[in-house]
Amino acid sequence: MNKQQQQEIVSTPHTRREGQGKESEGRVTSLLFICLGNICRSPAAEGVMRHIVEREGCDADFLIDSAGIGGWHVGQLPDHRMRRRGAARGYDFCSRARQFSAADFQRFDMILVMDRENYYDVKRLAHNSDDVQKIKMLPDFMTRHPGQPTIPDPYYGDIADFDFALDLIEDACEGLFAYLCANNH
Ligand code: 4NP
Repeated sequence: MNKQQQQEIVSTPHTRREGQGKESEGRVTSLLFICLGNICRSPAAEGVMRHIVEREGCDADFLIDSAGIGGWHVGQLPDHRMRRRGAARGYDFCSRARQFSAADFQRFDMILVMDRENYYDVKRLAHNSDDVQKIKMLPDFMTRHPGQPTIPDPYYGDIADFDFALDLIEDACEGLFAYLCANNH
């Protein structure tokens, strides 16, 4: 690697390094989905978004992860009810829970939260206005659920609440993908 190539890597964050992806060119868009516990909504959003980018043949262009505001479930698989309802739709939600930290602002282009409570909890850890700009409400990308402002927490609910959360997550992730494509992510 010559000096110019080294300089390009240092000055271009999120650019795929040589040998890291299927193609050696192009910018990687990094997305972090956030919910309260990282065992219901955000691991589902992570899995649905992975499914979409794989279906569209552009998984090498994305880095997708999820995390929780709280640390109660760190290391755990997603809630068995979400795993089961996801499997019924063809998803395999298998990420391990981790807690959001301020360092995630450096690692991700967009931080997608499920509700206003998540929004303010994440915002509290922002270092500056650039960090705040990265925080987006995932429900804002929905197109098929007009007037639905949040993706409600299904944890204390029943199976219908998990299915409803998945309906919203699928809608929002499709909308997010369309938005990113339209804006050349
Ligand atoms: P999530 O749901 O934020 O969608 O993962 C929850 C899971 C666990 C808890 C709260 C919400 N909890 O309090 O343990």
